[in-house]
Amino acid sequence: MELTTSAELLDSLRAVSVDTARNAYVPYSGFLVGAAASTPGGDIYRGCNIENASFGMTLCAEASLIGSLVAHGGKGIEVICCRTADGTFLAPCGRCRQMIMEIGGPDCLVDLGNELVPIRTLLPHAFTGRDMNVETS
Ligand code: THU
Repeated sequence: MELTTSAELLDSLRAVSVDTARNAYVPYSGFLVGAAASTPGGDIYRGCNIENASFGMTLCAEASLIGSLVAHGGKGIEVICCRTADGTFLAPCGRCRQMIMEIGGPDCLVDLGNELVPIRTLLPHAFTGRDMNVETS
């Protein structure tokens, strides 16, 4: 897969992720995070972090994005961006990398701010459905 995407699409995803970060529910950390992703079909989905008094239940922005994408019938992820409300780039946490791998597949591109890298390089030797002899699309 080509490690580029259109500059317009990337600009849109970055803008949507910053915009969505403003909706984050973060009474405990005050750390506003937004994520935006495009599907191969051209749809854009968004998510923000949602914290909880039971801290371990906190949903990351990427996880809430993936929940929305799946719930709306979205298929696959082409590119995913994650930003704080002031536009600072954020690397997906380990759990989110696993979720991105599951739904986006190994070639899904992650915006690292100055480069796009496939999720397989951020999560090498990943545990996937293949380890259970299950092929996911
Ligand atoms: N957070 C995300 O939304 N995504 C990440 O990849 C890393 C962390 C959120 C979770 C929590 O609400 C806050 O950032 C501080 O960890």
